[in-house]
Amino acid sequence: MKKSLFCFILIIGFILFASIKWKINADLCDPTLPIIPFDYENPTIPNHILNDTLGFSYDNMPPSNPITNEGATLGRVLFYDKQLSINNTISCASCHLQEFAFTDTARFSIGFDGGLTPRNSMSLVNFRFIKDGKAFWDERSPSLEHQVLQPIQDNVEMGMMLNDLVLKLENSTYYPNLFQEAYGTNEINPDRIAKALAQFVRSIISFDSRYDQGRATTPRDQEFPNFSTAENRGKALFTTHCQNAGCHSHETFVNEEPMNIGLDSITIDAGLGGVTGNPMDNGKFRSPMLRNIDKTGPYMHDGRFPFLNAVVTFYDHGIKAHPNLHPELIDSTLWSGPPQLPVPQDLELSVAQINNLIAFLRTLTDNTVLNEVKWSDPFECNNPVSTFEPQPNIPLAKVFPNKTQDYIWCQSIKKPIQEIAIYSNTGKQLQYVQSINKMEYQLDLSNWPTGFYFIRIKINQKITTEKVFKI
Ligand code: HEC
Repeated sequence: MKKSLFCFILIIGFILFASIKWKINADLCDPTLPIIPFDYENPTIPNHILNDTLGFSYDNMPPSNPITNEGATLGRVLFYDKQLSINNTISCASCHLQEFAFTDTARFSIGFDGGLTPRNSMSLVNFRFIKDGKAFWDERSPSLEHQVLQPIQDNVEMGMMLNDLVLKLENSTYYPNLFQEAYGTNEINPDRIAKALAQFVRSIISFDSRYDQGRATTPRDQEFPNFSTAENRGKALFTTHCQNAGCHSHETFVNEEPMNIGLDSITIDAGLGGVTGNPMDNGKFRSPMLRNIDKTGPYMHDGRFPFLNAVVTFYDHGIKAHPNLHPELIDSTLWSGPPQLPVPQDLELSVAQINNLIAFLRTLTDNTVLNEVKWSDPFECNNPVSTFEPQPNIPLAKVFPNKTQDYIWCQSIKKPIQEIAIYSNTGKQLQYVQSINKMEYQLDLSNWPTGFYFIRIKINQKITTEKVFKI
């Protein structure tokens, strides 16, 4: 009796375990990639950026890891793949969403096990142009290649051991091939994972905002023809108060060094000071680049300001007197110097001026980077709506005959067929066959009404679509 009860519990336990496992795996699918890789290697960088007299020289792409189209494609798949977390629930993109300029909307982000990150997620746009390429708010990571492996191993973010990740990727149906395409052999190791992720992150650049469109035709200190009066006034205020002071300078709106901007009078988070151990660095953080700033809230390393209004108001009259306060934010007419605490600036901006500054900051939004397919999620099952993407006309498979009463054959040219789906001429999916793994597959159309059908075939993560006619 006892024995059968034990067996019963064991069986129920097994069913529960199997169904939980199934549920997790059911959320995973293969990526779909273009036949010809997207262009990551040769980005278009406008002249006003290339000729930036204020110093556009901070390209941190190392000679040991130049961006290649295949490398960044692999990086894109890794970036969006939830398998990088121990329980297949979190990808890099869970905290770095394209629509929010590769950050998220939370004050602190949620990791694989429900834990919260200690700081606010950072935008990844234009990382390539950060001086020295050091990463994180406190610049504790010396390079992007070093940084990208940190969230994977972090016990709040993804909780994964690198050796286990390598095994997981080796057992996947698509990674060996993607590594082969990126590096010439299908060997998977942490160094190759890091390089591909770094290539993808570095490829994300944004120079197509309304600011850039105005700047392309007009010097920086003149009114832009494509701006409203409020935006032009905001631009002038920004130049005076924010840029001439040496902050958010250059056309990339980057800061040279981490700064203490007087968020707190007593250090709460030591920032750079926690890394160098030097008390003079306490409360210093890297400033964000400002392109797409309207999309990246909440703001500051701890996400304390929910809206831009709160940020501008803070710079106007909210700065606190920290001993390490940056000199440009001190009112030198009122401060007699150490050992007195510095006296923070008070800009005395009117409400209209604050609104103009915000209107200007919004012109830095670049919808291209927020929507471009080459930086988007390649996993169709993560996207509620799947559409046919126009594909260049390179045949991956032969489909014949294209007029038939009963059968058609799909024959792959090089690699085995992974999936086939049949769509009606209105785009409705009628049949879907997964895990085929054969060079040839036969489809039976004999029971279907006459008319056009689309056959969508997936081979080597790429899609080819053929039209056939049932007579
Ligand atoms: C659970 C949320 C979360 C996940 C998952 C995550 N990140 Fe982050 N990311 C953050 C947070 C928070 C920070 C800022 C941390 C800090 O400075 O202490 C950050 C910072 C970064 C930075 C530094 C940017 C800069 O300007 O210095 C890069 C690059 C980055 N993440 C890339 C990645 C990549 C690549 C992955 C996937 C392998 C990833 N992140 C996964 C939350 C996350």
